[in-house]
Parts: sequence; C-alpha cells; structure tokens
Amino acid sequence: MVYILLYVLVFFIISLLSHIFRRTNNKGLNKGIRLPPGSLGWPYVGETLQLYSQDPNVFFATKQKRYGEIFKTHILGCPCVMLASPEAAKFVLVTQAHLFKPTYPKSKELLIGQSALFFHQGDYHLRLRKLVQGSLSLDVIRKLPVDISSIAASTLDSWEHGSVISTFQEMKKFSFEVGVLAIFGHLDANHKEELKKNYTIVDKGYNSLPTSLPGTRYRRALTARNRLSKILSDIICERKEKKLLEQDLLGCLLNSKSEKGEVLTDDQIADNIIGVLFAAQDTTASAMTWIVKYLHDNRKLLEAVKAEQKAICELNAEGGQTITWKQTRNMPLTHKVVLESLRMASIISFTFREAVADVEYKGYLIPKGWKVMPLFRNIHHNPEYFSDPQKFDPSRFEVAPKPNTFTPFGSGVHACPGNELAKMEMLIMIHHLVTKFRWEVTGSESGIQYRPFPVPVHGLPARFWKESITC
Ligand code: HEM
Ligand SMILES: *[C@@H]1O[C@H](CO)[C@@H](O)[C@H](O)[C@H]1NC(C)=O
Repeated sequence: MVYILLYVLVFFIISLLSHIFRRTNNKGLNKGIRLPPGSLGWPYVGETLQLYSQDPNVFFATKQKRYGEIFKTHILGCPCVMLASPEAAKFVLVTQAHLFKPTYPKSKELLIGQSALFFHQGDYHLRLRKLVQGSLSLDVIRKLPVDISSIAASTLDSWEHGSVISTFQEMKKFSFEVGVLAIFGHLDANHKEELKKNYTIVDKGYNSLPTSLPGTRYRRALTARNRLSKILSDIICERKEKKLLEQDLLGCLLNSKSEKGEVLTDDQIADNIIGVLFAAQDTTASAMTWIVKYLHDNRKLLEAVKAEQKAICELNAEGGQTITWKQTRNMPLTHKVVLESLRMASIISFTFREAVADVEYKGYLIPKGWKVMPLFRNIHHNPEYFSDPQKFDPSRFEVAPKPNTFTPFGSGVHACPGNELAKMEMLIMIHHLVTKFRWEVTGSESGIQYRPFPVPVHGLPARFWKESITC
C-alpha cells in the first residue's frame, strides 16, 4: 500500500513537470476538430487519485455514462483518450493499428527486457510475433495435453488436504510450469529450479515502486533479472551444443533467420522468453482463480460441469489414457464456462496505446503523443452487448457474441498469441479439479484486488479436499 502511494506520488511530480512543459508546447494543433469530451481533472494531479481510490470500473462507467463512447482524462500525468465502444477499440487495435504504438512504463520494460515483442511495432514486432505465434499454434500445442495434465494433477496433489491456501498463488505455480513447458519443452530440474526462484524475485518487482535504491524490491528484481539472463544463456548454450530442432519457443527463436540472414542475439531471445513468461503467468492464474470462484458460487452449474468431465474421465480410466487434445476440443459446457469467466472477470480490463500522429476519430482529435485506452471490460459489461451483464451465465455463449464485443485476448496485431494454450490449460485444470476434488472458499470478504489483474481479495483463500483418486 505504501508503495502504491509512493508510486502515485512520484507520478504526480512527473505529471507536474510534464504539464508545465506541455503548456509551452501544445499550441496550434489542428484547429477545427475538437478534443473528445471529458475533464482533464485538477491539472497537476489529473484524475489518477480518483482512478486509484475507487474501483476503476466505476470510474470508467461513470465517465462513459456522462460523456459516451469516447472521452478524455488524465492518467498518471498523461492526457489520455478512453474508448468504450467496440468500433473505437477496433479502430485503434485493428484498422488503424499503425497509428498507435504500444506503451508501457519504462520500469516494466527494463525488468522484462526491451526487446520483448510487446514493446515493439512494425518489422521487428512482426518477425518476433510470427515466431511466438508459431510456437503457440494449434499444431504445436496439440501435443501438450499429456504434459499439461500431469502438471495440473501434481499441482493439485501438492495442496495440503483441507488447509487454507491462496488459490491465486497456487494457480501461479501451475501457469508458470505450463509456460516453461511451452517455452523450453522438457527443461532439466536444476535449470527449472534456478529459473523459478529468480523469476519469483523479478515477479515481485513488477508492481513495486520503480526505484533502484539498494534494498528495494525493484532493485532486487533487477539483479534477479540479470541472473535470469545468465541462466538463459547457459540453457541456450547447451541447446546449441545438442543441435536440437525443437518446436518449442526457444527452438523457434534459435532457428530464426531474418531475410538478411541475421540470427537473434541471446539478449533478444532472453527478453522474449521473460516476456512470454510474464504474459502467461498472472493472466492465466487470475482467470483460473475466477473460474474456481464462479463454479463454487454456482452449485448447479458445477454439478453439470462435473458430469461433463466425469464422462471423459471414466472413458479414459477404462482405456488407461489421460486427457487428449481431441477431448479438450469437445467440452461444450466447460468451454462456455471458460468464456463466460473471461467475460465476467475481464482479466485485461483495458490496454494502453499511444498515438504516433494526430488522429481523427468520428470528428474528434486524438493528438499525437496522447495515450488511448480501449476499455475491454466496459464493453464486456455493457448490457447492449451482453444482457444482464452482472449475471454469470455461460449459456449466453450458445450464440456467438456480436463482432468486436468479446475481446478477452485483445484484438489486432498485438492480440494474445497464447489464447489457445491458455484456454487448453484451463480446461485441463478444470477437468482434474472437478473430477477429483471438492473445495470451499473460506472467509466472508468479497471484493476484487488489482495485482494489477483483477483477482478476488487475498487471492481467494480456499480449502481443497481430494475426493477420489480416479474419477
Ligand atoms: C487467460 C489468459 C490470458 C489472457 C486473458 C491474455 C490476454 C492478452 C491480451 C488482452 C493481450 C493483448 C494486450 C494488448 O493488446 O495490449 C495479450 C498479449 C499477449 N499475450 Fe496473452 N493472455 C493470456 C495468456 C497468455 C499466455 C498463456 C501466453 C503465452 C504462453 C500469452 C502471451 C502473450 C503475448 C506474447 C502477448 C503480446 C503479443 C504482441 O504484443 O504481439 N498470453 N494477452
Ligand atoms: C538464481 O540464479 C543463480 C545463477 O545465476 C543461482 O545460483 C541461484 O541459486 C538462483 N536462485 C536465487 C534464489 O538466486
């Protein structure tokens, strides 16, 4: 909490300076077209305090009611245009994507590594994106269910019978292991352990105050990040000696040659590996945590999901096999539960881009350098597109959502390349969870914490009991 306050304070100071600077520098932009409606807040503080002192969704929804689908505000010292309609989101992310570049806080970029694909635009992004997409394509991940299934089973078995655990923290262990599998294939236990320990320290730095004063979390994270580079270059070295042609992400990155015949540097490879680990872990863990909660709160639905999964489990027990790729593609109810959970929870509530030129949208000016934020969550919770939006109702997905209204994985050139893997690992986890375990959520506190992805308070403390060994 103290860190967040300090963090906000630092941004106020930066915002003060940048505001003074901008005043002398922001005249004579395209006369004639207007800026979007909205308030820029008290000049130096912007509306950041408001955003951080109340549920961000309330903040956005109030604005949206007042101003409509597009409005301006100040976030963390930056003037910003928020977009709350499917058309506007498509404009920024798909049709005019070249006019909007990704933008992240510098502190995060330094922790992950500047060559990670999601910080980039244009040719370099495209090259890396093809590699990452290739290693996460259906053709490659269809071979993973056996391994993911054993990761899910051993994660669940490690939860001590009946004692309270943080569902989110435990799901993070699961999504990390699956991430490692997709990146390295079978990694030897030593490397995996070193990687895990050091990555955990990096992970704690993502949401801490970005100061590199000695003793701070951020500083510790930066040093752990350096150790990760070393571990990764050892792994790369060994892989090169063995001359293996693997289809996992590391294999794809190592084998890549640009048109001019250039290979990727070890740093470029390391940055993209850390980037994928980062993109894969908390997102999937947060979605899984919500699924555990929604199933817990909807008993009838849980019984129906159980029936669907038990049928698969019993079939497999007879034939002595574990869950197959084909089976993961044929779980109609469970699949809809996953989609509805992604809508309800909207893990990535919004994203940031920055206009690289003055852009006009529906008669409004988005000035060069301003941030734009497509608000996915508001679209997912708009009754115009999803009737009775606060109700958890998987059956709504019996009919496909209207175009551009359902984007839990984003859309356009930066859309999530891990979406199929994420869905598959969640289905497999649910399979093991509902067929072999029962659980109770403890504590009466309800509410959402932002870490920065929305997670039930305290990561959903719960007790799990193994009920059967087979099905
Ligand atoms: C439920 C889980 C997940 C959710 C909700 C999710 C959501 C998203 C979203 C919304 C974006 C686009 C962000 C933007 O446009 O600014 C994105 C990008 C990305 N995701 Fe995921 N993701 C999930 C899991 C994964 C997994 C498992 C992986 C990899 C194994 C992954 C890898 C990536 C990468 C590399 C990008 C950047 C793509 C680019 O910039 O071209 N994600 N994700
Ligand atoms: C981190 O990585 C180094 C190797 O660079 C390793 O010696 C160490 O055990 C790892 N774990 C921690 C917690 O630092």
